[in-house]
Amino acid sequence: MPSFDATTPTLGRAIRHEWSLDWDYLTVNHGSFGATPNIVLAAQSEWRRRLEAQPSRFMRQTLPGALRDAASRLAAFIGGRGQDIAFVENATTGCNAVLRSLRLQPGDEVLVLSHAYGAVRNTVRFVTERAGARMVEAMLPFPRPHPDAIVAALAAAITPRTRLAVLDHITSGSALVLPLARMLDTCHEAGVQVLVDGAHGPGQVAIDLTALNADWYVGNCHKWLMAPKGSGFLHARPDRQDGLHPVTISHGYGKGFMAEFDWTGTADPSAHLAVTAALDFHERLGGAALMARNAAMAAEAAALVAGRLGTETGSGNELAAAMAVVRLPVSGPATTERAKALRVHMLDAGTDIPLHAQAGALWLRLSAQAYNEMPDYEKLADIVGAVVARHA
Ligand SMILES: Cc1ncc(COP(=O)(O)O)c(C=O)c1O
Repeated sequence: MPSFDATTPTLGRAIRHEWSLDWDYLTVNHGSFGATPNIVLAAQSEWRRRLEAQPSRFMRQTLPGALRDAASRLAAFIGGRGQDIAFVENATTGCNAVLRSLRLQPGDEVLVLSHAYGAVRNTVRFVTERAGARMVEAMLPFPRPHPDAIVAALAAAITPRTRLAVLDHITSGSALVLPLARMLDTCHEAGVQVLVDGAHGPGQVAIDLTALNADWYVGNCHKWLMAPKGSGFLHARPDRQDGLHPVTISHGYGKGFMAEFDWTGTADPSAHLAVTAALDFHERLGGAALMARNAAMAAEAAALVAGRLGTETGSGNELAAAMAVVRLPVSGPATTERAKALRVHMLDAGTDIPLHAQAGALWLRLSAQAYNEMPDYEKLADIVGAVVARHA
Protein backbone atom coordinates (compact mmCIF):
# COMPACT_ATOMS: atom_id res chain seq x y z
CA MET A 1 0.00 0.00 0.00
CA PRO A 2 1.46 3.43 -0.89
CA SER A 3 2.31 5.54 2.10
CA PHE A 4 1.03 9.08 2.21
CA ASP A 5 3.08 12.19 2.52
CA ALA A 6 2.10 13.63 5.88
CA THR A 7 3.60 16.97 4.89
CA THR A 8 1.50 17.42 1.73
CA PRO A 9 0.53 21.08 2.10
CA THR A 10 -2.65 20.97 0.06
CA LEU A 11 -4.49 18.42 2.18
CA GLY A 12 -5.35 18.08 5.85
CA ARG A 13 -5.50 21.33 7.80
CA ALA A 14 -4.49 23.35 4.72
CA ILE A 15 -7.78 22.72 2.92
CA ARG A 16 -10.25 22.77 5.79
CA HIS A 17 -11.61 26.10 4.58
CA GLU A 18 -13.26 24.15 1.74
CA TRP A 19 -15.87 22.75 4.16
CA SER A 20 -18.27 24.28 6.66
CA LEU A 21 -17.47 21.63 9.24
CA ASP A 22 -17.09 22.77 12.84
CA TRP A 23 -13.33 22.42 13.30
CA ASP A 24 -13.60 22.74 17.08
CA TYR A 25 -15.19 19.33 16.88
CA LEU A 26 -13.15 16.27 15.84
CA THR A 27 -14.43 14.86 12.53
CA VAL A 28 -12.98 11.41 11.89
CA ASN A 29 -16.26 9.85 10.78
CA HIS A 30 -16.59 10.68 7.13
CA GLY A 31 -18.14 7.26 6.53
CA SER A 32 -21.56 7.86 8.06
CA PHE A 33 -22.82 10.86 6.12
CA GLY A 34 -19.87 12.27 4.16
CA ALA A 35 -19.16 16.01 4.27
CA THR A 36 -19.97 18.23 1.32
CA PRO A 37 -17.52 21.00 0.40
CA ASN A 38 -18.78 24.54 -0.02
CA ILE A 39 -18.03 24.62 -3.74
CA VAL A 40 -20.28 21.59 -4.32
CA LEU A 41 -23.04 23.12 -2.19
CA ALA A 42 -22.72 26.28 -4.29
CA ALA A 43 -23.19 24.24 -7.47
CA GLN A 44 -26.27 22.63 -5.92
CA SER A 45 -27.65 26.08 -5.02
CA GLU A 46 -27.14 27.23 -8.59
CA TRP A 47 -29.20 24.25 -9.88
CA ARG A 48 -31.91 25.14 -7.35
CA ARG A 49 -31.85 28.76 -8.47
CA ARG A 50 -32.34 27.71 -12.08
CA LEU A 51 -35.18 25.39 -11.12
CA GLU A 52 -36.97 28.05 -9.09
CA ALA A 53 -36.54 30.68 -11.82
CA GLN A 54 -38.72 28.69 -14.22
CA PRO A 55 -39.97 25.58 -12.41
CA SER A 56 -42.10 24.07 -15.13
CA ARG A 57 -39.68 24.72 -17.95
CA PHE A 58 -36.76 23.40 -15.88
CA MET A 59 -38.52 20.17 -14.94
CA ARG A 60 -39.77 19.50 -18.46
CA GLN A 61 -36.96 20.74 -20.66
CA THR A 62 -33.75 21.09 -18.68
CA LEU A 63 -33.89 18.28 -16.15
CA PRO A 64 -34.09 15.19 -18.40
CA GLY A 65 -30.91 16.08 -20.30
CA ALA A 66 -29.10 17.40 -17.23
CA LEU A 67 -29.77 14.17 -15.31
CA ARG A 68 -28.45 12.10 -18.19
CA ASP A 69 -25.34 14.31 -18.44
CA ALA A 70 -24.67 13.76 -14.73
CA ALA A 71 -25.18 9.99 -15.11
CA SER A 72 -22.73 9.89 -18.04
CA ARG A 73 -20.15 11.84 -16.07
CA LEU A 74 -20.56 9.41 -13.15
CA ALA A 75 -20.19 6.48 -15.56
CA ALA A 76 -16.90 7.94 -16.78
CA PHE A 77 -15.68 7.72 -13.16
CA ILE A 78 -17.02 4.30 -12.11
CA GLY A 79 -17.22 2.51 -15.46
CA GLY A 80 -20.29 1.40 -17.33
CA ARG A 81 -22.63 3.51 -19.46
CA GLY A 82 -24.64 6.49 -18.34
CA GLN A 83 -27.84 4.96 -19.71
CA ASP A 84 -27.49 2.05 -17.26
CA ILE A 85 -27.24 4.38 -14.26
CA ALA A 86 -30.25 5.91 -12.53
CA PHE A 87 -30.09 8.37 -9.67
CA VAL A 88 -31.97 7.45 -6.51
CA GLU A 89 -32.06 9.22 -3.18
CA ASN A 90 -29.65 6.89 -1.39
CA ALA A 91 -28.30 3.35 -1.26
CA THR A 92 -31.22 2.18 0.85
CA THR A 93 -33.68 3.27 -1.86
CA GLY A 94 -31.59 1.68 -4.61
CA CYS A 95 -31.40 -1.65 -2.77
CA ASN A 96 -35.15 -1.46 -2.10
CA ALA A 97 -35.84 -0.98 -5.82
CA VAL A 98 -33.93 -4.14 -6.73
CA LEU A 99 -35.17 -6.29 -3.84
CA ARG A 100 -38.80 -5.24 -4.16
CA SER A 101 -38.72 -5.93 -7.89
CA LEU A 102 -37.84 -9.60 -7.26
CA ARG A 103 -40.57 -12.13 -7.90
CA LEU A 104 -39.67 -14.63 -5.22
CA GLN A 105 -41.35 -18.01 -4.89
CA PRO A 106 -41.99 -19.78 -1.58
CA GLY A 107 -38.82 -21.62 -0.57
CA ASP A 108 -36.49 -19.32 -2.54
CA GLU A 109 -33.47 -18.04 -0.66
CA VAL A 110 -31.86 -14.60 -0.60
CA LEU A 111 -28.34 -14.58 0.76
CA VAL A 112 -26.93 -11.75 2.88
CA LEU A 113 -23.59 -11.43 4.62
CA SER A 114 -23.39 -11.43 8.40
CA HIS A 115 -21.85 -7.93 8.14
CA ALA A 116 -24.70 -6.57 5.98
CA TYR A 117 -26.04 -3.09 6.70
CA GLY A 118 -29.10 -3.28 8.95
CA ALA A 119 -31.51 -1.35 6.69
CA VAL A 120 -30.68 -3.54 3.71
CA ARG A 121 -30.98 -6.69 5.79
CA ASN A 122 -34.44 -5.48 6.88
CA THR A 123 -35.44 -5.03 3.25
CA VAL A 124 -34.37 -8.61 2.53
CA ARG A 125 -36.38 -9.74 5.54
CA PHE A 126 -39.41 -7.85 4.25
CA VAL A 127 -39.34 -9.26 0.71
CA THR A 128 -38.59 -12.83 1.80
CA GLU A 129 -41.24 -12.88 4.57
CA ARG A 130 -43.83 -11.50 2.15
CA ALA A 131 -43.11 -14.28 -0.38
CA GLY A 132 -42.67 -17.22 1.99
CA ALA A 133 -39.00 -17.23 0.99
CA ARG A 134 -35.96 -17.37 3.30
CA MET A 135 -33.14 -15.01 4.20
CA VAL A 136 -29.89 -16.96 4.58
CA GLU A 137 -26.82 -15.48 6.20
CA ALA A 138 -23.21 -16.19 5.21
CA MET A 139 -21.09 -15.86 8.34
CA LEU A 140 -17.97 -13.79 7.63
CA PRO A 141 -14.85 -14.48 9.66
CA PHE A 142 -13.64 -11.51 11.74
CA PRO A 143 -11.27 -9.90 12.77
CA ARG A 144 -8.58 -9.75 10.06
CA PRO A 145 -10.22 -12.29 7.79
CA HIS A 146 -8.32 -13.84 4.90
CA PRO A 147 -9.99 -13.25 1.50
CA ASP A 148 -10.06 -17.03 0.87
CA ALA A 149 -12.05 -17.54 4.07
CA ILE A 150 -14.58 -14.88 3.03
CA VAL A 151 -15.10 -16.49 -0.38
CA ALA A 152 -15.41 -19.92 1.29
CA ALA A 153 -18.04 -18.60 3.74
CA LEU A 154 -20.06 -17.23 0.85
CA ALA A 155 -19.78 -20.45 -1.19
CA ALA A 156 -20.87 -22.51 1.83
CA ALA A 157 -24.10 -20.52 2.17
CA ILE A 158 -25.21 -20.93 -1.48
CA THR A 159 -27.79 -23.66 -2.11
CA PRO A 160 -29.80 -24.68 -5.19
CA ARG A 161 -32.59 -22.39 -3.89
CA THR A 162 -30.42 -19.25 -3.74
CA ARG A 163 -31.94 -16.68 -6.10
CA LEU A 164 -29.94 -13.61 -5.20
CA ALA A 165 -26.94 -12.67 -3.07
CA VAL A 166 -26.57 -9.20 -1.57
CA LEU A 167 -22.85 -8.47 -1.27
CA ASP A 168 -21.44 -5.42 0.47
CA HIS A 169 -18.57 -3.78 -1.37
CA ILE A 170 -17.24 -2.24 1.85
CA THR A 171 -18.88 -3.44 5.04
CA SER A 172 -20.32 -0.85 7.36
CA GLY A 173 -19.49 -1.96 10.90
CA SER A 174 -16.27 -3.81 10.10
CA ALA A 175 -14.92 -1.58 7.27
CA LEU A 176 -13.77 -4.57 5.18
CA VAL A 177 -13.21 -4.06 1.47
CA LEU A 178 -14.52 -7.43 0.37
CA PRO A 179 -12.91 -9.46 -2.46
CA LEU A 180 -15.85 -8.56 -4.65
CA ALA A 181 -14.66 -9.88 -8.02
CA ARG A 182 -14.01 -13.35 -6.58
CA MET A 183 -17.31 -13.30 -4.70
CA LEU A 184 -19.20 -12.33 -7.84
CA ASP A 185 -17.57 -15.19 -9.74
CA THR A 186 -18.58 -17.61 -6.99
CA CYS A 187 -22.20 -16.48 -7.20
CA HIS A 188 -22.41 -16.33 -10.99
CA GLU A 189 -20.83 -19.78 -11.37
CA ALA A 190 -23.63 -21.09 -9.12
CA GLY A 191 -26.27 -19.27 -11.21
CA VAL A 192 -26.96 -16.74 -8.44
CA GLN A 193 -27.68 -13.11 -9.31
CA VAL A 194 -25.90 -10.41 -7.31
CA LEU A 195 -26.91 -7.05 -5.91
CA VAL A 196 -23.84 -5.18 -4.69
CA ASP A 197 -24.43 -2.75 -1.85
CA GLY A 198 -21.70 -0.25 -2.67
CA ALA A 199 -22.85 2.50 -0.32
CA HIS A 200 -19.23 3.21 0.67
CA GLY A 201 -17.54 2.40 -2.65
CA PRO A 202 -17.50 5.42 -5.01
CA GLY A 203 -14.74 7.84 -4.08
CA GLN A 204 -13.23 5.51 -1.50
CA VAL A 205 -11.93 2.79 -3.85
CA ALA A 206 -11.44 2.55 -7.62
CA ILE A 207 -14.45 0.97 -9.34
CA ASP A 208 -14.91 -0.44 -12.82
CA LEU A 209 -18.53 -1.50 -13.11
CA THR A 210 -18.02 -3.04 -16.53
CA ALA A 211 -15.23 -5.33 -15.34
CA LEU A 212 -17.12 -6.13 -12.12
CA ASN A 213 -20.17 -7.29 -14.04
CA ALA A 214 -22.57 -7.28 -11.07
CA ASP A 215 -26.23 -7.70 -11.97
CA TRP A 216 -27.00 -4.53 -9.98
CA TYR A 217 -24.65 -2.14 -8.19
CA VAL A 218 -26.05 0.45 -5.80
CA GLY A 219 -23.84 3.28 -4.58
CA ASN A 220 -23.81 6.63 -2.84
CA CYS A 221 -22.18 9.80 -4.11
CA HIS A 222 -22.92 11.59 -0.81
CA LYS A 223 -20.37 9.63 1.19
CA TRP A 224 -16.86 9.39 -0.29
CA LEU A 225 -17.48 11.48 -3.41
CA MET A 226 -18.67 14.31 -1.15
CA ALA A 227 -21.76 15.11 -3.24
CA PRO A 228 -24.83 16.59 -1.50
CA LYS A 229 -26.96 14.29 0.64
CA GLY A 230 -29.54 12.42 -1.37
CA SER A 231 -27.30 11.46 -4.29
CA GLY A 232 -27.44 7.69 -4.51
CA PHE A 233 -27.48 5.71 -7.75
CA LEU A 234 -28.39 2.33 -9.15
CA HIS A 235 -26.47 0.69 -11.98
CA ALA A 236 -28.38 -2.10 -13.69
CA ARG A 237 -26.73 -4.35 -16.26
CA PRO A 238 -28.66 -4.03 -19.56
CA ASP A 239 -29.97 -7.60 -19.25
CA ARG A 240 -31.20 -6.89 -15.70
CA GLN A 241 -33.30 -3.80 -16.43
CA ASP A 242 -36.41 -5.61 -17.55
CA GLY A 243 -38.76 -6.07 -14.60
CA LEU A 244 -36.78 -3.63 -12.44
CA HIS A 245 -38.91 -0.82 -11.01
CA PRO A 246 -38.29 2.15 -8.71
CA VAL A 247 -39.88 2.03 -5.27
CA THR A 248 -42.31 4.72 -6.50
CA ILE A 249 -44.23 3.98 -9.68
CA SER A 250 -44.92 7.09 -11.77
CA HIS A 251 -45.49 8.25 -15.36
CA GLY A 252 -42.63 6.21 -16.78
CA TYR A 253 -44.09 2.84 -15.79
CA GLY A 254 -43.51 0.27 -18.53
CA LYS A 255 -41.41 2.71 -20.61
CA GLY A 256 -38.01 1.34 -19.70
CA PHE A 257 -35.31 1.76 -17.06
CA MET A 258 -34.45 5.41 -17.65
CA ALA A 259 -38.05 6.60 -18.01
CA GLU A 260 -39.12 4.77 -14.85
CA PHE A 261 -36.28 5.99 -12.65
CA ASP A 262 -35.70 9.52 -13.99
CA TRP A 263 -39.12 10.71 -12.87
CA THR A 264 -40.68 9.38 -9.68
CA GLY A 265 -42.76 12.46 -8.85
CA THR A 266 -41.86 16.04 -8.03
CA ALA A 267 -38.65 16.24 -6.01
CA ASP A 268 -35.57 18.43 -5.66
CA PRO A 269 -33.05 16.98 -8.16
CA SER A 270 -30.23 19.37 -7.24
CA ALA A 271 -28.22 16.77 -5.27
CA HIS A 272 -28.07 14.52 -8.32
CA LEU A 273 -27.17 17.36 -10.63
CA ALA A 274 -24.36 18.51 -8.32
CA VAL A 275 -22.63 15.11 -8.57
CA THR A 276 -20.67 16.58 -11.49
CA ALA A 277 -19.28 19.31 -9.24
CA ALA A 278 -18.41 16.69 -6.62
CA LEU A 279 -16.51 14.65 -9.21
CA ASP A 280 -14.60 17.80 -10.21
CA PHE A 281 -13.70 18.48 -6.58
CA HIS A 282 -12.61 14.88 -5.91
CA GLU A 283 -10.44 15.01 -9.01
CA ARG A 284 -8.96 18.37 -8.00
CA LEU A 285 -7.88 16.86 -4.68
CA GLY A 286 -6.14 14.04 -6.48
CA GLY A 287 -8.77 11.46 -7.48
CA ALA A 288 -6.95 8.10 -7.38
CA ALA A 289 -4.05 9.65 -5.44
CA LEU A 290 -6.50 11.00 -2.84
CA MET A 291 -8.07 7.55 -2.41
CA ALA A 292 -4.60 5.97 -1.96
CA ARG A 293 -3.58 8.68 0.51
CA ASN A 294 -6.76 8.24 2.55
CA ALA A 295 -6.33 4.45 2.66
CA ALA A 296 -2.72 4.76 3.79
CA MET A 297 -3.70 7.30 6.43
CA ALA A 298 -6.55 5.13 7.76
CA ALA A 299 -4.16 2.17 8.11
CA GLU A 300 -1.61 4.28 9.96
CA ALA A 301 -4.33 5.87 12.10
CA ALA A 302 -5.78 2.47 13.04
CA ALA A 303 -2.32 1.21 14.05
CA LEU A 304 -1.78 4.36 16.10
CA VAL A 305 -5.13 4.15 17.92
CA ALA A 306 -4.82 0.38 18.51
CA GLY A 307 -1.32 0.96 19.88
CA ARG A 308 -2.50 3.75 22.20
CA LEU A 309 -5.46 1.64 23.43
CA GLY A 310 -3.38 -1.54 23.66
CA THR A 311 -5.75 -3.50 21.41
CA GLU A 312 -5.90 -4.58 17.74
CA THR A 313 -7.23 -3.53 14.36
CA GLY A 314 -9.99 -5.46 12.61
CA SER A 315 -8.74 -5.65 9.04
CA GLY A 316 -5.40 -6.17 7.37
CA ASN A 317 -4.29 -3.75 4.64
CA GLU A 318 -5.32 -6.15 1.88
CA LEU A 319 -9.02 -5.66 2.70
CA ALA A 320 -8.89 -2.07 3.87
CA ALA A 321 -9.40 1.40 2.40
CA ALA A 322 -10.19 4.76 4.00
CA MET A 323 -12.02 3.33 7.02
CA ALA A 324 -10.67 1.01 9.70
CA VAL A 325 -11.93 -0.56 12.89
CA VAL A 326 -10.12 -0.83 16.21
CA ARG A 327 -11.16 -2.89 19.23
CA LEU A 328 -12.06 -0.97 22.38
CA PRO A 329 -10.21 -1.99 25.55
CA VAL A 330 -13.34 -3.01 27.43
CA SER A 331 -14.32 -6.26 29.08
CA GLY A 332 -17.82 -7.43 29.88
CA PRO A 333 -20.80 -7.71 27.55
CA ALA A 334 -20.27 -6.54 23.96
CA THR A 335 -23.82 -5.42 23.26
CA THR A 336 -25.35 -2.92 20.86
CA GLU A 337 -26.88 -1.09 23.83
CA ARG A 338 -23.48 -0.65 25.40
CA ALA A 339 -22.02 0.54 22.09
CA LYS A 340 -24.83 3.11 21.77
CA ALA A 341 -24.34 4.40 25.30
CA LEU A 342 -20.59 4.77 24.84
CA ARG A 343 -21.10 6.57 21.54
CA VAL A 344 -23.15 9.22 23.33
CA HIS A 345 -20.32 9.72 25.81
CA MET A 346 -17.86 10.09 22.90
CA LEU A 347 -20.18 12.70 21.37
CA ASP A 348 -20.21 14.62 24.63
CA ALA A 349 -16.41 14.37 24.77
CA GLY A 350 -15.98 16.00 21.34
CA THR A 351 -16.19 13.43 18.56
CA ASP A 352 -18.69 11.20 16.79
CA ILE A 353 -17.29 7.74 16.38
CA PRO A 354 -19.35 4.75 15.21
CA LEU A 355 -19.15 1.81 17.62
CA HIS A 356 -20.24 -1.71 16.78
CA ALA A 357 -20.52 -4.95 18.72
CA GLN A 358 -19.05 -7.83 16.75
CA ALA A 359 -17.07 -11.02 17.40
CA GLY A 360 -17.67 -10.65 21.15
CA ALA A 361 -16.07 -7.20 21.38
CA LEU A 362 -16.80 -3.51 20.77
CA TRP A 363 -15.07 -1.85 17.81
CA LEU A 364 -14.74 1.78 16.76
CA ARG A 365 -14.69 2.75 13.10
CA LEU A 366 -12.50 5.65 12.04
CA SER A 367 -12.36 7.34 8.63
CA ALA A 368 -9.66 9.27 6.78
CA GLN A 369 -10.73 11.95 4.31
CA ALA A 370 -8.86 14.79 2.62
CA TYR A 371 -9.32 17.18 5.55
CA ASN A 372 -7.87 14.75 8.12
CA GLU A 373 -4.28 14.55 9.28
CA MET A 374 -2.47 12.30 11.73
CA PRO A 375 -2.84 14.54 14.83
CA ASP A 376 -6.63 13.96 14.50
CA TYR A 377 -6.10 10.34 15.48
CA GLU A 378 -3.92 11.24 18.46
CA LYS A 379 -6.91 13.31 19.62
CA LEU A 380 -9.25 10.41 18.88
CA ALA A 381 -7.12 8.08 21.00
CA ASP A 382 -7.15 10.68 23.83
CA ILE A 383 -10.95 10.94 23.73
CA VAL A 384 -11.61 7.22 23.42
CA GLY A 385 -9.12 6.39 26.17
CA ALA A 386 -10.69 8.95 28.53
CA VAL A 387 -14.29 7.86 27.80
CA VAL A 388 -13.47 4.19 28.23
CA ALA A 389 -11.62 4.86 31.49
CA ARG A 390 -14.61 6.78 32.83
CA HIS A 391 -17.63 4.96 31.47
CA ALA A 392 -16.73 1.40 30.45
C1 LIG B 1 -23.09 -0.88 3.62
C2 LIG B 1 -24.12 0.20 3.67
N1 LIG B 1 -25.25 0.05 2.96
C3 LIG B 1 -26.21 0.98 2.93
C4 LIG B 1 -26.08 2.14 3.67
C5 LIG B 1 -27.19 3.14 3.64
O1 LIG B 1 -26.82 4.30 2.99
P1 LIG B 1 -27.92 5.45 2.85
O2 LIG B 1 -28.24 5.89 4.25
O3 LIG B 1 -27.26 6.51 2.06
O4 LIG B 1 -29.10 4.83 2.20
C6 LIG B 1 -24.95 2.35 4.45
C7 LIG B 1 -24.81 3.56 5.25
O5 LIG B 1 -23.86 3.81 5.93
C8 LIG B 1 -23.94 1.34 4.46
O6 LIG B 1 -22.86 1.46 5.22
